[in-house]
Amino acid sequence: MRRAHGPAVCAAAFAAVLLAGTAAAQKRPADSASGAAPRAASAATGAKPTGAASYGQRFAGLCAACHGANGRSDLPGTPVLAGQHSFYAITQLFLFREGRRSNEAMTAVAKTLTNDDLRGFSEFIGTLPPVPPPPAATPPDPAKMSKGRELARQHKCVFCHGDDFAGGAQVPRIAGQREDYLRDSLRGFKSGQRPGYTQAMIEAVSQVPVDDLDTMAYYAARFPLAGTATPSASAPRAGASAPR
Ligand code: HEC
Ligand code: HEC
Repeated sequence: MRRAHGPAVCAAAFAAVLLAGTAAAQKRPADSASGAAPRAASAATGAKPTGAASYGQRFAGLCAACHGANGRSDLPGTPVLAGQHSFYAITQLFLFREGRRSNEAMTAVAKTLTNDDLRGFSEFIGTLPPVPPPPAATPPDPAKMSKGRELARQHKCVFCHGDDFAGGAQVPRIAGQREDYLRDSLRGFKSGQRPGYTQAMIEAVSQVPVDDLDTMAYYAARFPLAGTATPSASAPRAGASAPR
């Protein structure tokens, strides 16, 4: 089922290398007292804390204004990062920084990030638990929810994103993501405006009518988040053939 796509594979491999570097870097301090002095020195001189904790502080200063302090964004067009996977996050940060994925606001930020930053921010994002959407003013439309559910099965979205839409590794969580952002992303994959880091999404949506993409965005945005205390007001329910 997997096919080799040149540049996509490179991006994936690059991201994997970046992440692997983190694990190694985090183990290093304990045993670096003697040998790794020169490298440790540059990190130590600024007395900057390293690891996810320091990136938590930097996230608060640099990212939270748009993405929300807990990773749940309130801004139109700005994705929720809470519950997102670090491997997915790093690939997207990489695509933004390299100018392959483009958005005025996000590209400007990504251009300033070093490889260590890509790692650090992605790891921090990976620690943010999923946050359910605020209770909706109106309950989900049962007919739209069941249509969305049917479409997601028909088009095998669940095959990659999971029955719970929680994703994993390089496949993003889409459950509880902002509807406007989901809609724009799906339309973007279809029109070619948003590049994938693999061809997976482009192939998945190429034959799907835009109306159906919008219905799936509606559905995924209202999908109850597994493992979180979803307020019943925002959960699809009451006759809305609850997604399972
Ligand atoms: C000025 C607002 C703004 C700031 C500041 C910002 N972002 Fe973003 N970010 C966005 C927008 C808007 C998008 C969606 C762009 C698009 O639709 O292509 C995005 C997308 C992303 C994505 C991809 C999410 C996905 O689901 O594909 C990641 C990861 C991300 N941002 C991380 C960060 C990090 C880390 C920082 C801080 C270093 C940051 N952002 C700062 C606005 C911002
Ligand atoms: C073969 C696996 C696969 C299938 C099938 C698939 N996806 Fe994806 N999806 C991915 C991957 C991988 C990404 C990450 C995008 C990239 O390559 O950069 C993604 C990204 C997305 C995004 C962007 C999320 C974000 O945070 O930016 C949305 C929305 C999405 N998929 C929805 C769907 C829907 C709806 C379907 C069914 C029509 C679907 N996907 C089918 C693998 C898949």
